[in-house]
Amino acid sequence: MQKKRLFTGLQPSGDLHIGNYLGALRPFVSMYGEYESMLMVADYHALTTLKDAPELRENILNAVRDYLAIGVDPKRATIFQQSAVPAHTELAWILECMVTVPFLMQAHAYKDKVSKGLDANAGLFAYPMLMAADILMYDTDVVPVGQDQKQHVEYAREAASKFNKAYGDTFKEPREQILHPVAVPGTDGRKMSKSYGNTIPLFGTRDEIQKAVMSILTDSKGESPENVYAIHRLVKDETEIASLYKTNKGKYKVVKDALASDIEALVAPMRERRGSISDADVIRILKGGKEKAREQAEAKMLVVRQKVGVSIS
Ligand code: TRP
Repeated sequence: MQKKRLFTGLQPSGDLHIGNYLGALRPFVSMYGEYESMLMVADYHALTTLKDAPELRENILNAVRDYLAIGVDPKRATIFQQSAVPAHTELAWILECMVTVPFLMQAHAYKDKVSKGLDANAGLFAYPMLMAADILMYDTDVVPVGQDQKQHVEYAREAASKFNKAYGDTFKEPREQILHPVAVPGTDGRKMSKSYGNTIPLFGTRDEIQKAVMSILTDSKGESPENVYAIHRLVKDETEIASLYKTNKGKYKVVKDALASDIEALVAPMRERRGSISDADVIRILKGGKEKAREQAEAKMLVVRQKVGVSIS
């Protein structure tokens, strides 16, 4: 039986934390092998916010390095850059012509920007149609994403259905698969997020991990520090954790030390692997991915251009 197509994109946005790993990356690694998988670095999406060329370049290389380090095998997934397949921006344009301005105005990313009184650039406004193009290009069945991207997959479905109605069946309507429905808590108990400054770095040194774990907020009255436990149960088997916390009631230092070494045990092999992946390795992998992706995208675009009527021969 032919495998189903999985497609996901990641914004190259700098250093990962264990919340990214436990919430999205680890679930992704455990599922992608069952599908015909494509993993795209969404560098043109990043351009809607990042206007620093050396930083963007570095982030692209690092995003791929991160995925390889956590265990994604480039032989089992096509890894490529969005910008390397110009058909994505071409298809995005066509899809933009299928949807209305009020429809795009409902998108969270755009609405959030405007509600903060900021001017959204036109790229941010059209963002959901570029993402729809990414997904629809490859006849995707499943899109594994975080909860925050659910709406964007709905937009892709809507764009597919509008196009299909106008021009006949062309695009598959994809479904999202939410990777980790509960947020990973950070050092202050709120959702772990760069913007809250409550993260534990994924590829940090042992000392950096230790320091971040020691900073986890604990209320001095309780017997069992819930913020420590909430992270710990995602790192190690919960029954083991439960008995550790039971025998060490009130001993915050002991359980924090245990959490720091459990995180270290989890991330050390990945950190090591990451250190051994050179820029040249990443560039070679992206080149291979580009060729595969381009071939499929070009074939799809031949059909799409026929359907909309710009192909004249
Ligand atoms: N917008 C996604 C994010 O910020 C990244 C992305 C771009 C994506 N294209 C995609 C995710 C296609 C899934 C499918 O996380």
